[in-house]
Amino acid sequence: MTTKDTTLKWLLPLAKPSLVMFTILMPALCSGIEVKCSQPNQPALLEALNPVFNLSAIRPVMNISTLSNISIFFTLYGILGVNEKSQLLNTYIWLDYWWMNEFVSWDPIQCGTPKISLPRDKFWIPDIVINEFMDENTAPYVPYVYLYSDGKVHDAQPAKVVSSCNLDIYTFPFDVQNCTLTFNSYLHFARDIKISLGKPADEITEHSKMVITTMGEWELLDITSHKYRADTDDGDYIDELAFHIRVRRRATLYVVNLLIPSCFLITVDLFSFLLPPQSVDRSSFKMTLILGYTVFLLIMNDLLPITGNTIPLLNVFFSLCLALMVASLLETILVTNLMCSAIFSPVPRWIQVLVLQILGCLVCLPWKAKDSDMEQNAVVVKSRADEGPPEQRGPVVEDTALQELRSLGRDLQALRLQVEQQAGGSQSSEEWIQVGFIIDRLLFGLYILFISVSFITIIIIWVNSHRQ
Ligand SMILES: *[C@@H]1O[C@H](CO)[C@@H](O)[C@H](O)[C@H]1NC(C)=O
Ligand SMILES: *[C@@H]1O[C@H](CO)[C@@H](O)[C@H](O)[C@H]1NC(C)=O
Ligand SMILES: *[C@@H]1O[C@H](CO)[C@@H](O)[C@H](O)[C@H]1NC(C)=O
Ligand SMILES: *[C@@H]1O[C@H](CO)[C@@H](O)[C@H](O)[C@H]1NC(C)=O
Repeated sequence: MTTKDTTLKWLLPLAKPSLVMFTILMPALCSGIEVKCSQPNQPALLEALNPVFNLSAIRPVMNISTLSNISIFFTLYGILGVNEKSQLLNTYIWLDYWWMNEFVSWDPIQCGTPKISLPRDKFWIPDIVINEFMDENTAPYVPYVYLYSDGKVHDAQPAKVVSSCNLDIYTFPFDVQNCTLTFNSYLHFARDIKISLGKPADEITEHSKMVITTMGEWELLDITSHKYRADTDDGDYIDELAFHIRVRRRATLYVVNLLIPSCFLITVDLFSFLLPPQSVDRSSFKMTLILGYTVFLLIMNDLLPITGNTIPLLNVFFSLCLALMVASLLETILVTNLMCSAIFSPVPRWIQVLVLQILGCLVCLPWKAKDSDMEQNAVVVKSRADEGPPEQRGPVVEDTALQELRSLGRDLQALRLQVEQQAGGSQSSEEWIQVGFIIDRLLFGLYILFISVSFITIIIIWVNSHRQ
């Protein structure tokens, strides 16, 4: 009982200046309040600890200018998911806090135990919060803390953390998210409470990867810690410790359900260019594909993330696929029209230059060759026609047979003129058909370009997400 009284007298001095002076003069004794146990068992220890409990309202330091050093670490036990719409990361973590209670220390041999677990409301508990916390903590409440014989306190509790996180879903489904958990005291300045890392970050990562149970959509990459303020500053700020958690989406589901079917559909549409454009089959085939694609997108809509601050590249890809399909349907209608209706009006000059010459060369369907062929024929015919008169100028061998032949030649020439006029009409329609072919080829090329660019982009994004 006497020991208890003395300890009380040592505790109360915080209010009594004379005793404060006494404690300054005896710094060795000030380092802690010796708890003397009458017996080496728990009830005796509890009784001896009683005066300490009455001090639970104040920060457990002998000198008010001593700061409390709270060391923190956690284990990531589960990644429950990411909510793109509200930009939240759901995790389940095990928190561990360590700090010193300078009011208490005992002899582990005298009291029979080096540590004892006691209700947490009997002690001062630091007001550490996670800044990004956006919801109620629904994890079970842990009512106890461990008190060690040298005054160390160990507080451990689970927490279901719903934290705000700036999610970047541009590269969905190959995205890597970097979310932050910032631990700080809500009220105390750094001159009262400092926060330090209780365990190296790579050990935290390693342990988390070992115990993590959720093998769902998200895979833990690493956890790094960051201290924003140096210890050398004065204490007029709130000390904080940030942990960056990086998680990567497992993309298999999205690749199998979204990317591959979409690629198949666009490839089938690509091969529909092999169908002759004149036949009506092709447009109905394309129409069916567009219908199928629309239904596919409708079904898969809830797999796509609801956009945050950026539109995922995948949505752009789907839109482009649909746009290409619609464009190719329109093109098929146009080409069918060009090829099936005989148009006798000549191809306008600018279309001739732009489509037949420039674009035709671009898609390896040069029109020039045929054109020059005709011209050559015309030249040959002309030269032959010119060759006639010299014969006339030849020796004067008048022959009736020759005259017959000449009149026959004139008839033939008239016939040829008529045929040529007809051919002119059919040539302009042939030119229109060629225009159709070139447009068809062009769109085919565009399809191949689009598919290869998408493929390369997907590969680059995939490699990039796996290099991190
Ligand atoms: C602790 O304080 C209560 C009143 O709040 C008092 O009744 C009790 O005796 C005190 N205990 C010790 C050990 O001083
Ligand atoms: C508290 O500590 C500071 C420096 O650490 C010292 O200057 C001051 O005298 C101490 N006060 C008491 C009451 O021990
Ligand atoms: C706090 O404690 C940790 C170890 O637990 C130590 O590394 C760090 O230096 C301490 N910080 C201060 C300000 O005492
Ligand atoms: C995660 O984001 C923080 C800032 O929000 C940044 O400091 C940190 O370097 C990022 N981590 C990685 C690995 O990019």
